[in-house]
Amino acid sequence: MDYQVILIENNRLMLERLSSVIRATAGFNLIARYQQAGDALGQWAMFKPNIILLDIDVTGNLGLIPEFASAFPEAALLCVSSHWDAKDAAQIVKAGAKGYLVKPFTGEEFLEAVQTFGKSGMALGSEVLAFFSPKGKSGKTTLIANLAMSLANKSGEAVGIIDADLQFGDMAVFFNLEPKSTIMEATRDIKFLSPITLNSYFVEVPEAENIHVLCGTKKPEYAEMVDVASFEDMVRMAQSLFRYVLIDLPPGFNPISLAASELSTTTYVMAMVGGGYEVLHMKRALGIFEAWPDYRSRVKTIFTRVSPCTDEERRILEQELGYPVSAILPNEYLLVSAAANNGRMAVDIQPDTPLSQNINRLSEDIMGRRRTRWGAQP
Ligand SMILES: Nc1ncnc2c1ncn2[C@@H]1O[C@H](COP(=O)(O)OP(=O)(O)OP(=O)(O)O)[C@@H](O)[C@H]1O
Ligand SMILES: [Mg+2]
Repeated sequence: MDYQVILIENNRLMLERLSSVIRATAGFNLIARYQQAGDALGQWAMFKPNIILLDIDVTGNLGLIPEFASAFPEAALLCVSSHWDAKDAAQIVKAGAKGYLVKPFTGEEFLEAVQTFGKSGMALGSEVLAFFSPKGKSGKTTLIANLAMSLANKSGEAVGIIDADLQFGDMAVFFNLEPKSTIMEATRDIKFLSPITLNSYFVEVPEAENIHVLCGTKKPEYAEMVDVASFEDMVRMAQSLFRYVLIDLPPGFNPISLAASELSTTTYVMAMVGGGYEVLHMKRALGIFEAWPDYRSRVKTIFTRVSPCTDEERRILEQELGYPVSAILPNEYLLVSAAANNGRMAVDIQPDTPLSQNINRLSEDIMGRRRTRWGAQP
């Protein structure tokens, strides 16, 4: 059955333009169109729309959202504006709208918006998890790829990965992806994007369709082209698309890693055991975040390649560090590298190993459904 659409657009020319896009899109039927939102509300008993497009560039229309939501309870209300605004986006979803489109849009964008937002609505309260390490080779990318898989499987919700390791990002290699566009194009174009159009810069993981990856730049020298303000806008916009946004950061501090941490709900600081300096490096890294008032709840630590990977060992690390350790991962080199070589993840191919179990526990922790204490026997 076709979608029945009501279009409300104040500008006469734009009204014509959007009408012809909707009429030309298969599966959609434009049943009514208005320049004034009040006129549509006056007519509601006559129509049974599935979709209402409401121009929110007109003063006062934002305030009408609750009235539309109650007058047309069966319809998905999508707001339309000439620009994207993260604050408005949060406000309209709270008021009862399902999504947000930037005009003018193409038939493809319209269809995608309806498919993405129509049923579940735009994500609200999405979590940004930033993964930071004082030194390179901490097992960060391996953990993020596996954790994304675990979160996507367990929660059934959309997970986005942003590879912000700008110069040497290798998330695409982990998932065997061949991106057409990368973080460079997404940040370059961000001023003209809305969540729907940003979505097309992410690549879907073939083995897990609710994981989408924004890959790193194709050449190290492109890293300079990613500016911090655009990166921040892009992360905020990605929050409308994914319930969990995982950000892979380059080792050490730079403006991008600081911006990502500032935006994050949780920043994970990671270090790989080996050489003996990892606790010292971790202490120094934690020092950078100490100024945050909510530092102890927002910054969490993870050690990888911990051997033996026991609760006892975790307590020893906590004592040396003087800070809670949120997760420890065992030494499983063969498993993680064999899995990554196939574009598959350890949590998928060997779910019963200690590595997979600890990653699954971390994802339950993130989902707030952790039933057992760390290391406690059920
Ligand atoms: N739990 C683990 N046990 C043993 N080896 C691991 C573990 N996790 C990752 N590795 C290995 O350590 C190396 C670095 O891992 P990975 O690329 O995930 O780290 P990274 O912190 O993202 O590194 P980079 O600084 O290059 O971004 C890889 O060879 C990987 O296979
Ligand atoms: Mg990495």
